Amino acid sequence: MQVAALLESFPGERRVALVPADVPKLNKAGIEVVIESGAGAAAGHADAAYVAKGAKIAGTRASALAADVIIQVRALGAARHPSASGLEPLRPGQYLIAMCDPLGEPQEIAAFAASGASLFALELIPRTTRAQSMDVLSSMATLAGYRAVLLAALELPKIFPLLMTAAGTLTSAKAFIIGAGVAGLQAIATARRLGAVVRAYDVRPACREQVESLGGKFVELPLETSGAEGQGGYAQAQGEEFYRRQRELMAQVVAESDVVITTAAIPGKPSPRLITADAVAGMQPGSVIVDLAAERGGNCELSRPDERVVAHDVTILGPTNLPGEVPRDASQMFSANVTSFLVNLIKKGELVLNCDDPILRETLAAHNGQVVHSRLRELLGLSKLEQQTLET
Ligand code: NAI
Repeated sequence: MQVAALLESFPGERRVALVPADVPKLNKAGIEVVIESGAGAAAGHADAAYVAKGAKIAGTRASALAADVIIQVRALGAARHPSASGLEPLRPGQYLIAMCDPLGEPQEIAAFAASGASLFALELIPRTTRAQSMDVLSSMATLAGYRAVLLAALELPKIFPLLMTAAGTLTSAKAFIIGAGVAGLQAIATARRLGAVVRAYDVRPACREQVESLGGKFVELPLETSGAEGQGGYAQAQGEEFYRRQRELMAQVVAESDVVITTAAIPGKPSPRLITADAVAGMQPGSVIVDLAAERGGNCELSRPDERVVAHDVTILGPTNLPGEVPRDASQMFSANVTSFLVNLIKKGELVLNCDDPILRETLAAHNGQVVHSRLRELLGLSKLEQQTLET
C-alpha cells in the first residue's frame, strides 16, 4: 500500500504532513511512502532527506495522487480557498487524511464524498488518552499559544519581566489569557517563562487547577458555569445574556492588562465575542491583543483575520496560522500524529476499517460515496445512517 504526502497548496503554508524521520516507521508497518517533490522544503526537509529514509519522490502532483492514501496538512475547508487543497477528484477506494475543517465547512465534506473516496478528518480525533498521540488539534494549538505570546512580546512597548536595575525598576507586564484550553495553557506557560504576571479565565471551572499549576491566577467571575463543559471536554455555547455579563465583568481585567491573548472557541460555532471596542478603548496605550479566534469571527470585536489593527492606541493581531510560522516543529508534531494514526489503521500493510475502533469511527467523515459522520450529517440536514453502512 502506498501513502503519499503532498506539497501543500494553500498560499503561504510551510508545513508538511510527513517528515523524513517518520518514513521508516511507516515502512516497518508495510507502507510504501511517496513524497511529492518539494513537499518538505519549506519545513527544512529536502527530497534527498526523504529518500535517505526510504521514501520515493513523485515528480508531479498527478503521480503522487496515484497513491492509495493521500496525506495533507490542509485540505477542503481547511484550505479555505476552493482550489487551494489542489486535489483532483480522488477515485473511489482512495483515502484522504487531513485537517479539513469538517465542522466549519461540512458542505465541502459532502462535495468530497461524491467522489467515492474516503476521508479521515483529523480535527475529529477524539480527545481521549488513547488518541492523544494522534491529536493534531492539541499539537497545533500548543504551538499557536507559544507563538502568540512571542508576537505580543515583540509588539509591546515594554518588556515582560520585572527588572531592578541601576536605572530604576521595570515592572512586570500583566498578561490576561482568555480560554485556558491547549493554546491558552501554553500561552500561560510561555508568558510566565518570559516573566509576565499572568491571569486567565475559562468558562470550564475545571481549568482553574491547570492555570494555577502553571503559575497563573484564575480570574473568578460571578457567572453560572456549571453546564459550561460539554461532551469531550469542550465548552458549550452559552446564551447572549451570559456573554454580555462576561464581557462586562472581564472589561476591568482587560483594562488592567498590557497583553490579552484570546483563545476562546466552541467547536463548529462562531467564537464568542468577549472584548468589545469599548473594552479596547479602556486599555492603556501600547497594549496588545492577540486574538487566536480571529478566523472564526474573533473574540475581540476589532480583530481582523491576519491583519494588524491599531485602535485606541491598542494593537490587535488576528493571526490565523501561527503553527505555520514554525513549520519545522509543527511538521514534526503533525507528522508524528499522522504516523500514529496510520499505524493504528494499518494491519499487515493494509488499511483495515474497524468501525469498533472509536478513533476510526469518530474520524471517518466520508466513505462509500456518502458523508458517514453523524455530527456532520446532522449539520448537513441528512438522516442518520445505519452502522453497517460503514463497513467495507
Ligand atoms: P478549544 O480550542 O475548543 O477552546 C479553547 C478554550 O476556550 C476552551 O478551554 C474553552 O473552554 C474556552 N472557552 C470557550 N468559551 C469561552 C468563554 N466564553 N470564555 C472563556 N473561555 C471560553 O479547546 P481545546 O484547547 O481544543 O480543548 C478542548 C478540551 O479538550 C479541553 O477540555 C482540553 O483539556 C481537552 N483535551 C483533552 C485531551 C485528551 O484528553 N487527550 C487533549 C487535548 C485537549
